[in-house]
Amino acid sequence: MSTPETSIHGEWSSRLAFILAATGSAVGLGNIWRFPYITGEYGGGAFVIVYLLCIALIGLPVMMAEVLLGKRGRSSPINSMRILAQEAKRTRWWQALGWAGVVAGFLILSFYSIIAGWALAYIPRVASGMFTVVNDLSTTKEVADFVGARFGDLVGDPLRLLAWHTAFMIVTITMVAGGVQGGLERAVRWMMPALFIVLLVLVGYAMSTPKFMDGVHFMFDVDFHKLFYPKGEFSGEGVLVAMGQAFFSLSLGMGAIMVYGAYLPKHASIAQTTTAVVVADTFIAILAGLIIFPIVFSNGLEPGGGAGLVFKILPIAFGQMPFGSVMGTLFFVLLALAAWSSAISLIEPAVAWLVETGKFSRLSATIGCGVAAWLVGFATVFSFNIWSGVHPLSMFSAFKDKTLFNLIEYLTTNIMLPLGGLFIAIFVAWLMKRQIVAEELESSPESFGYRLWQFLLRYVTPLGVGLVFLNAIGVFS
Ligand code: PHE
Repeated sequence: MSTPETSIHGEWSSRLAFILAATGSAVGLGNIWRFPYITGEYGGGAFVIVYLLCIALIGLPVMMAEVLLGKRGRSSPINSMRILAQEAKRTRWWQALGWAGVVAGFLILSFYSIIAGWALAYIPRVASGMFTVVNDLSTTKEVADFVGARFGDLVGDPLRLLAWHTAFMIVTITMVAGGVQGGLERAVRWMMPALFIVLLVLVGYAMSTPKFMDGVHFMFDVDFHKLFYPKGEFSGEGVLVAMGQAFFSLSLGMGAIMVYGAYLPKHASIAQTTTAVVVADTFIAILAGLIIFPIVFSNGLEPGGGAGLVFKILPIAFGQMPFGSVMGTLFFVLLALAAWSSAISLIEPAVAWLVETGKFSRLSATIGCGVAAWLVGFATVFSFNIWSGVHPLSMFSAFKDKTLFNLIEYLTTNIMLPLGGLFIAIFVAWLMKRQIVAEELESSPESFGYRLWQFLLRYVTPLGVGLVFLNAIGVFS
């Protein structure tokens, strides 16, 4: 049986377009909102090192494998896996990998949209100069209280969160309905460089704060004690969270990168394109950390401030720096755009599958998926206010204080994505024909690069993911 030559959904106009789209998927709230907040919670340096190791040893090889599956299958993840399992003469059950990805995508989008809504909400706030007040406050405590209270006003109000969530979703639906080559390619082309420049300016501001070096030390001084004993007792959770973040930040394990790979022109090098995406993504996360932590320490705040960290910290900078309102507005606009270019990749696998069934137009498929994710999003909206005291799994000590939002975030990023990546690695490295894999990579199975990659996928990924899971459930403690 032969595999399809092209996808019915269209194709990227060039290799660069794929790099931009995949970078658009990878770079988002994961880098700027999530990376600093969890790095803060798990104590800094050691967490960062584990994260970087996961990116290099697991993330990069799995991303190549995921792109390869898409490029070979040329369809939605569900159908690509069906076609490729058939080609490799394996069970049809491999389709389940595509299904699991669709579910993970919905769940992630459901909370992603709320956090992106925060970014939208901060645009008018910063633009109107709300945070210039910090210059009139005399102590860092007053500053912290002020920005904390403004964040509290927002998340404490379910209707406001719902309104921004709805706005974010409507635009997401409009973009996805436009298809592969529509607005997306064009938007990402200038957005990424612009975001990068704004981040560099902010690093400049961070360097001017009194505790810049404290921030740098926090991020790069490796102290494994802090990672394994976050609250005095041994816990393997930090390593699991670092690995989950590597998958989340690179958009791996749920089919987003696979479906983008399906739109890749036939002769585009997988190794080069994915390396470019991984480097850009990692660099942006590190920059975000270099901005946040110096401001945290310079204002006498705690790095483990939770999911609101970035939204409490950056307004201080925008209140204080010259042209802060302009920079801040630009920053939150770009952050929202980066979130959109990620959000669209979260529902594209489901939309592509619905279109392939032949029963839905792209528009109706997109609206259906968007509305479903919007509804699930209510759970996250309420987790910050009327349900903030609801901890559904409080009978398990590990999940004691976790809200619905915390649980959805935990389940998807720390469990579903790494599991998806594990199965992708197993399928590509153990079950597909070497000849086919080598052909898609345009490489020889004898070359050093190929053998290294295969080794990482065959042994390092399964062992790594397996050990981290066992460690997290306490097997080694
Ligand atoms: N990588 C995106 C980010 O860092 C989130 C994402 C995860 C997107 C999984 C698609 C799939 O913001």
